Amino acid sequence: MTQQSFAFTENPDPASSARLNEILAAPGFGEYTTDYVAKVDWSGDGAGSGEWKNARIEPYGPLVLDPAVSVFHYGQEVFEGLKAYRHMDGSVWLFRPEANAQRLRRSARRLALPELPDELFLEAVTSLVRQDSRWIPDGEGTSLYLRPFIIATEKFLGVRPSREALFEVVASPAANYFGTPEPVDIWWSRKYARAGVGGTGAAKCGGNYAASLVPQMEGEAHGCKQVMFTDENRDHAVEELGGMNVFFVLRDGTLVTPALTGTILEGITRMSIIELAQERGHTVEERTITVDEWRRGVESGEISEVFACGTAAVIAPMGRLVYEDGEIPAAAQTNGEVTTWLRSQLTGIQTGRVEDRFGWMQQVI
Ligand SMILES: Cc1ncc(COP(=O)(O)O)c(C=O)c1O
Repeated sequence: MTQQSFAFTENPDPASSARLNEILAAPGFGEYTTDYVAKVDWSGDGAGSGEWKNARIEPYGPLVLDPAVSVFHYGQEVFEGLKAYRHMDGSVWLFRPEANAQRLRRSARRLALPELPDELFLEAVTSLVRQDSRWIPDGEGTSLYLRPFIIATEKFLGVRPSREALFEVVASPAANYFGTPEPVDIWWSRKYARAGVGGTGAAKCGGNYAASLVPQMEGEAHGCKQVMFTDENRDHAVEELGGMNVFFVLRDGTLVTPALTGTILEGITRMSIIELAQERGHTVEERTITVDEWRRGVESGEISEVFACGTAAVIAPMGRLVYEDGEIPAAAQTNGEVTTWLRSQLTGIQTGRVEDRFGWMQQVI
């Protein structure tokens, strides 16, 4: 099955208007979920052939799963994150959803899960957004965050690819992730790695995030909101943050970002920033950049801005890089010209205030 309309079951107990207004006035991030979910079942013979079926929109609610299904034991799970934005005229748009569909397929392939056809992904998210449209906030920096995921649902305790899976999308109204674009101090985790060569770093799978929680807690204990991972085997080459990619802006306007080596997530915000910067005439280098080069660059002024990017926070200026026995100070400009221009372009395109000259936005309502 590649294309089918989603069956619909009405929620008998949707959030009241009063409750909804209260939530949308201060949605935070990831705290509240909407009235509906989209679901599609899969069964087949492991990651090879099989069938997607029972596409449906139904009331939000708990999943009932056998305790022996493989997602609970072997972490066979992948997910995505994207946002729907309400524009001034009331219309609703998704930002590059086809890129999320493609990445979900790549992640699923790595985790031996079935690949969901892109059209089905797009139909699931658009159907859900339409159904939950009253949950899309319209304040500055707000959106409806969409969390599609696939889990292995076969009841079987042996280690092999599941023969049953569930694709589901949940939605959650969102304010800005970090609240304000204040510089975010970053904890450099020297003890823990998030991913290794040949591992699952380029896949968006739950296990990568489980592995990042202990260093994340370590960072929080040191006053840092995000953790940075480096590759010890490549002179501590910068990889990425727990949930964001990293960019450096050099004095001459060149942008440097770690190359996609298979150990970091291929961020859709990262890809969009590269296209925006190149269109503006910036040179963009996707290459190795070590912590040492970072330190020397900030000290000499060669690196003028450092920022992190991802769907949740879009673009956040980075402050200090803090580690066990020292720190690298923030670059000279923490909300510098390039960071600010890129943020205003990207958020402008997403919110409809800047022309979408790349054809990134897809209208849903
Ligand atoms: C580990 C990691 N790196 C980078 C990103 C940024 O990716 P994107 O721009 O597609 O949100 C994310 C967020 O999804 C992430 O979890």
